[in-house]
Amino acid sequence: MEAQKYAFKMKSSTTTTTLKDDSLCLSKNLVPYTLQFLLPIALLPIVLLCIYFYPLFLTKSQTNELHYGTISSPPPPPYPVNNKIKAENNSCDYFNGKWIHDKSGPLYNGTTCGTIKEGQNCMTNGRPDSNYLYYRWKPNECNLPRFEPNTFLQLSKNKHIAFIGDSLARNQFESLLCMLSTVSKPKPVHHKGSHWWHFASHNATLSDYWSPFLVQGDERSKSGPSFNTMHLDRVNERWLKDMDGMDLIFLSFGNWFNVPSIYYENGLVLGCLNCSSFGLNYTDIGFYVPLRKALRTSLNAIIERKRAKGKEISVIVRTFSPTHFDGDWDKAGTCSKTEPYGNGEKKVGEMESEIRRIQTEEVESAKAKANAFGGIRFEVLDVTELALLRPDGHPGAYMKPFPFANGVSEHVQNDCVHWCLPGPIDTWNEIFLEMMKWDWKGQPRSEE
Ligand SMILES: *[C@@H]1O[C@H](CO)[C@@H](O)[C@H](O)[C@H]1NC(C)=O
Ligand SMILES: *[C@@H]1O[C@H](CO)[C@@H](O)[C@H](O)[C@H]1NC(C)=O
Ligand SMILES: *[C@@H]1O[C@H](CO)[C@@H](O)[C@H](O)[C@H]1NC(C)=O
Ligand SMILES: *[C@@H]1O[C@H](CO)[C@@H](O)[C@H](O)[C@H]1NC(C)=O
Ligand SMILES: *[C@@H]1O[C@H](CO)[C@@H](O)[C@H](O)[C@H]1NC(C)=O
Repeated sequence: MEAQKYAFKMKSSTTTTTLKDDSLCLSKNLVPYTLQFLLPIALLPIVLLCIYFYPLFLTKSQTNELHYGTISSPPPPPYPVNNKIKAENNSCDYFNGKWIHDKSGPLYNGTTCGTIKEGQNCMTNGRPDSNYLYYRWKPNECNLPRFEPNTFLQLSKNKHIAFIGDSLARNQFESLLCMLSTVSKPKPVHHKGSHWWHFASHNATLSDYWSPFLVQGDERSKSGPSFNTMHLDRVNERWLKDMDGMDLIFLSFGNWFNVPSIYYENGLVLGCLNCSSFGLNYTDIGFYVPLRKALRTSLNAIIERKRAKGKEISVIVRTFSPTHFDGDWDKAGTCSKTEPYGNGEKKVGEMESEIRRIQTEEVESAKAKANAFGGIRFEVLDVTELALLRPDGHPGAYMKPFPFANGVSEHVQNDCVHWCLPGPIDTWNEIFLEMMKWDWKGQPRSEE
């Protein structure tokens, strides 16, 4: 069964851990080690973000070298941020609203969809409560329609939609696959370095590219360095090489940046994050500037490619998805809430809001650059607020099958980063569909 390939595989040996995929790994020996240099409580969540092992298929060859300013260059001008997207006749801000009870429930479940990763299949892992499945997002200004798989496929006809980024990109991608599979069964397509699925009914291709920095680099790993390496001026070739064939590029990243890193530009070290902790003497530049540069490099590369090839393209950037580690990260009960937060009950944190600001500003800046020649559309899928209000949507301990079958042990691994499938992440795709509905072709938006 093909789904098998997608399954979470982890050998719990103490020497090497091989994951076929970009799975979440909360390795026992990694965590304490990481803690040594990430003690500030605020950083604890990233400890659990953990290490992803992914075979690097690509060899280093020529890359699109793009250079955009230096570390001392000022941030881009404060472009006005307009989060409204046009839904049929009305403009609606889909990102301000609240979660309300809805008895209709999800389109699929853990048994009907065969492509859910074990770590996110909360239902089959024995999560006892199901209340979290019966909420829908109600924007203040309009109603968000339920996901319509046929409409999505219709709009994707003869197109290639690529999800690029981290494991949350994958999480959302799998939610989409599950919802679409209720009307049309996709076939996996072999493609080196990424996962492709083809819906023969509509000749629609959906793909997922593992590229957590968007730019070229290596993730820290248990067998290699304990820090990330990133080349902020070079787009990751894994997706760059296929860019010409993509009609919609969905960028989904952020959580991998708050991890010790060394940053390069023009092949030279630009600075690092928390590198004194592993004995390197580079300037600590934090991760906000690198995150901004990585996104700018990627968006610029898309603009350049559009300019060179002329093909119409849409680009959607998802904003930061907050984590919900409340309480001890390795104890039962972390992110075990069973209800969403109400309005105003929780405020977006400083880091989340800064990442969101950077992501939004860079998209606005790209829009301004691309305006000159048209045929390219940029949108922000601003999930930060609506995700923040769903502490109940994570696998928590149910990232593993029946975690409490033998009672509650002293250490319990919790995933408070990814989202259960089905779960609140399905809503991200409902908004995504609204974006696709009103304008695929990148016409200038009206009524701004
Ligand atoms: C949008 O406007 C058109 C023409 O005025 C109308 O026929 C259509 O029903 C409207 N759609 C919605 C969703 O309101
Ligand atoms: C999943 O859905 C199928 C079909 O709708 C249903 O038969 C089954 O009971 C559901 N399973 C769970 C765990 O809800
Ligand atoms: C199928 O879709 C691809 C894009 O994913 C396109 O290049 C190709 O021309 C389409 N085939 C047909 C027969 O339309
Ligand atoms: C670190 O770099 C600074 C500036 O380059 C230098 O003055 C200092 O001696 C270095 N420290 C160590 C421990 O190498
Ligand atoms: C790691 O970097 C962050 C962001 O620059 C900083 O707030 C934190 O204090 C650093 N931690 C250590 C242990 O150096």
